[in-house]
Amino acid sequence: MMEGQIVARGIKDTRVLAALRDTPRHEFVPEALRDQAYQDHPLPIGFGQTISQPYIVALMSEVLELGGDEIVLEIGTGSGYQAAVLGRLAKEVYTIEIVPELGERAERDLARLGFLNVHVRVGDGYQGWPEHAPFDAIIVTAAPQQVPQPLVDQLAVGGRMVLPVGRWNQELVLLRRTSKGIEREKLIDVRFVPMVGEAQQTH
Ligand SMILES: C[S@@+](CC[C@H](N)C(=O)[O-])C[C@H]1O[C@@H](n2cnc3c(N)ncnc32)[C@H](O)[C@@H]1O
Repeated sequence: MMEGQIVARGIKDTRVLAALRDTPRHEFVPEALRDQAYQDHPLPIGFGQTISQPYIVALMSEVLELGGDEIVLEIGTGSGYQAAVLGRLAKEVYTIEIVPELGERAERDLARLGFLNVHVRVGDGYQGWPEHAPFDAIIVTAAPQQVPQPLVDQLAVGGRMVLPVGRWNQELVLLRRTSKGIEREKLIDVRFVPMVGEAQQTH
């Protein structure tokens, strides 16, 4: 997986490469699909949801430029795999999942595998997690049609936020908060499941 799919497609951050090497993706995939755990495509995890493809996990992790001291927010825990990778790259990870069964299962799996710095909450992530804000990095793994303003508001100065935006034609967008305001950069076209809940009522 690493050489063929991740390095070959341009991921260079050695900490990201090490985090992916050291995180057992098969532990976050349903047993019946474990033989496909290291192939470069998304896989179903139940409740109509998916675990993202490894290249996208690597790319989204890399653009957050994590050095190890950051407080990170993830919206869309899903299987817990992306949160586990982030747990190896940052100091604390706060992750929110709207489907209770997925959030509870991810919490159990993360605890069983020893990811003690990853904290899971069940709920709608649209409003973020204000008690732990501001965040040095925010990652959203479901697509809203517009960037949720409450998440932008919880981004620290110097912070990065990566998320898919759009309905059918989605773009992966990187936002940076500088002392002068928000900078926005389009990365690549992507296809994520929609962000549900409050995100669907605000456009
Ligand atoms: C592509 S999957 C996540 C993949 C996940 N990061 C992983 O590593 O397995 C997107 C997840 O976002 C969740 N989701 C959708 N809307 C949400 C919301 N408003 N708040 C929190 N989670 C949400 C979905 O239930 C789904 O589990």
